[in-house]
Order: sequence, then structure tokens, then C-alpha cells
Amino acid sequence: MGNVLIIGAGGVGSVVAHKCAQVPEVFSRICLASRTLARCEGIQKSVKERTGRDIEIARVDADNVAETVALIKKVQPSLVLNLALPYQDLHLMDACLETGVDYLDTANYEPPDEAKFCYKWQWEYQDRFREKGLMALLGSGFDPGVTNVYSAYAAKHYFDEIHSIDILDANAGDHGHPFATNFNPEINIREVTARGKYWENGQWIETEPLSVKQSFDFPQIGPKNAYLMYHEELESLAKNIKGLKRIRFWMTFSDNYLKHLEVLQNVGMTGIEPVMFEGREIIPLQFLKALLPDPASLGPRTKGKTCIGNVMEGVKGGKPRKVYIYNVCDHEECYREVGSQAISYTTGVPAMIGAMMMLTGKWRGQGVFNMEELDPDPFMEKLNHHGLPWEVKELA
Ligand SMILES: NC(=O)c1ccc[n+]([C@@H]2O[C@H](COP(=O)([O-])OP(=O)(O)OC[C@H]3O[C@@H](n4cnc5c(N)ncnc54)[C@H](OP(=O)(O)O)[C@@H]3O)[C@@H](O)[C@H]2O)c1
Repeated sequence: MGNVLIIGAGGVGSVVAHKCAQVPEVFSRICLASRTLARCEGIQKSVKERTGRDIEIARVDADNVAETVALIKKVQPSLVLNLALPYQDLHLMDACLETGVDYLDTANYEPPDEAKFCYKWQWEYQDRFREKGLMALLGSGFDPGVTNVYSAYAAKHYFDEIHSIDILDANAGDHGHPFATNFNPEINIREVTARGKYWENGQWIETEPLSVKQSFDFPQIGPKNAYLMYHEELESLAKNIKGLKRIRFWMTFSDNYLKHLEVLQNVGMTGIEPVMFEGREIIPLQFLKALLPDPASLGPRTKGKTCIGNVMEGVKGGKPRKVYIYNVCDHEECYREVGSQAISYTTGVPAMIGAMMMLTGKWRGQGVFNMEELDPDPFMEKLNHHGLPWEVKELA
């Protein structure tokens, strides 16, 4: 039924390839392309062993629009899934526009030389996608992604109006390394070291990095300190959830992680400005990335669970209501199923489901969409079938 081109053979790209291969009735043909063909070969082999399916592979530099256009013309997909890095978003959207193909990603565009992510650049593609009758689905991971769908689902079924959303993301996984990031270290550290920001009464309020925390009792994990951070879904949800007065995002970090991060920051290793080293320019954060464990290598070592969900307050039938929607995911179970840890898994499954929604016509539209703008029901149903079941708790 659907022929898809997956770009980016990293942790998330690998999960997406496996999960698409598990659903042959929707994903009849799969091609995985990345800069390093050897990574694609490894995933191709694992998909064959685990699902019995053959996927095609190709080499592409997604920053080179002409190269991607040539690959799209060869593969003839109905959808390009961008699981490379946020730096490639605009180049891949350009290639999709040129070839008349729909687009999906899991993270919004970020310029390589500035630690600033926002939807502005991709929302500017609205008219071009609309005019061509194409659909671009932005942020189809877990957060952003499922957290946006949870918000839309709560707005549809649990509230007349949602007044506050707190997105809480806990990773209680232990990989045994003194310091490692669960997804691309460069993207992860840029995000964590940025100033915090939340939205209240129509205004953005900034905080010092990781300076605001709360203890939250996560289901199946227990109480953990969660730190206020800026996260990209806040921007679209603040715009799209009617009646919202406040939205914040919180993520847990262990004391050990924070101690390492502080030292690395203090010595300048998290910087993104080039420095001269032995006659050549290097970017400290990129050098640090080369030293840190590859997130894909954490899979076999990581034990424990993740829990991500939304605590939402508002009114229903004139009465106040507080609802928590969440998923708990187990690192070792993910590894057994697809050979990856839960961070890649919780991102890759929603990317596959987003693609499924588009290919089966459940989610159709012309232009650029954030997840909360589409009907949450079919997506929520598929989460339960494809490895990310959710729970709803009424809180006092
Ligand atoms: N929404 C969410 O919940 C969520 C959560 C986690 C991550 N993410 C996003 O998911 C994406 C993938 O993350 P990840 O952890 O899988 O990262 P990763 O392991 O570093 O993988 C990224 C892959 O992109 C490929 N790539 C980079 N530049 C490329 C280019 N110019 N052309 C072609 N391929 C290129 C790399 O390929 P080569 O190795 O071949 O160079 C790498 O394998 C990122 O955008 C991340 O921000 C979203």
C-alpha cells in the first residue's frame, strides 16, 4: 500500500525501519537511506532477522537537496520520514516539495550554528505545501508527538477547556556509563543547557537553565526530581489548545548526570562556537560527541523504565478536573523487540504511526501540521497496538 523512504540510520531510524516492517499491510516497500551505508546495512540485516522482511538501502547526504531529489525520484515513495537530525529538516522539505512527496519528522528545525529551535522556519513552508497539495507532519515522536496527541485527546474527551498542561518526562534507565546521552548527544546537550522557558497568560517566561525543579511521583518509577525546560511542543500547543493559560515541560535528570554536565559546561566542552586546536578549528560540543558513547550502543546495557505523560487541569461541565495521561516503557523489552533502548523506541513508534495515519488517509490535509491539529482518536488507538499503551488517571 505505502512505499516509504526513511532518512537517517541512527537510533530512531532503526526503530522506525523495524516497526514499519512489522506492518506490511501499510508499509509495502521500505527504503532506508543515510550518509553512512554501513549503518543502513546493519539495520537491514536486523530487520530481516527480526521480521523476515527485506528493506532497500541507499546512501544519501540529506543536506544536498539535489542528491535527495535524485533518490526520491528513484525510490518513488509516497512519504519521506525524516529521522536524520533537525539540521536536515528544511533541506528535506525542499526535496519533498520539488518531487511532490509528503513529509514527516520528529524534531523541529534548528540552525547548526545557533542553539535555537522553533517552528518559525517550518511553518513558513505552509503555503508551499498547500499550493502543491502536499502534507507535512511535524514532530511525530513522543515529545513532541504523543504529548501533543494526549493534549488533543484530553481536549476532545475530558475537558470543555484545558487551562494548564504540565508535560513530565522521566527516564529512569541505567546504562552503566558514568555519562552518556540517550539520543544524539549534540542535540541533547544543546537542549538541556538552553535557558528554561514556559508559557503563562499569553507570555513566555524565561528561567536559568535547570534552575526550577519539582518532585513528581512517576508511575512504576517513583518520586524523581523533574527540571523545567523549554521543549518544542510548548510552542505549537500554546497556539493550538484553545483556552490554555499555562504550559510547562519537565524532564528528570540524575544528580550524576547534572554533575557531569556542570563540569563539562564549566570547562567549555558544551560550546558550539569554533575554537582553534592544533592549527584547526573544532567545535567543542562536536568533539565531546565523538568521545561519548553512541546512543545506539546503549540498547543492550540499559535497564529500567521511562514514563512520559501530561498532567492537565481544566473544566468539564462547569467543574474543575485534573487528568494525567501517560505511557510507561521498559528499556529491556524495547531492546528485545527491535534492538534499541526505550528513548529511540518511544520516538520511533509514533513516527511509524504518524506515517500510518497519513498513508491510510486517517490524517490527510494540505499544508504543514502539528500533531494536535489532527483527530487524536485513531492515533491513540494505534499506540495501544504498537507498543506504547497509555493510561488515564483522574487526579484529585
Ligand atoms: N520527538 C521526540 O520525542 C524525539 C526524541 C528523540 C530524538 N528525536 C529526534 O530524532 C532524530 C534522530 O535522533 P537519533 O537519536 O536517532 O539520532 P542519531 O542516532 O544521531 O541518528 C541520526 C542519524 O542521522 C543521520 N544523518 C545526519 N546527518 C545526515 C545527513 N546530512 N544526511 C543523511 N543522514 C544524516 C546520521 O547518519 P550517518 O550516521 O549515516 O551519518 C545518523 O545516523 C533527531 O532529529 C532527534 O532530535 C525526537
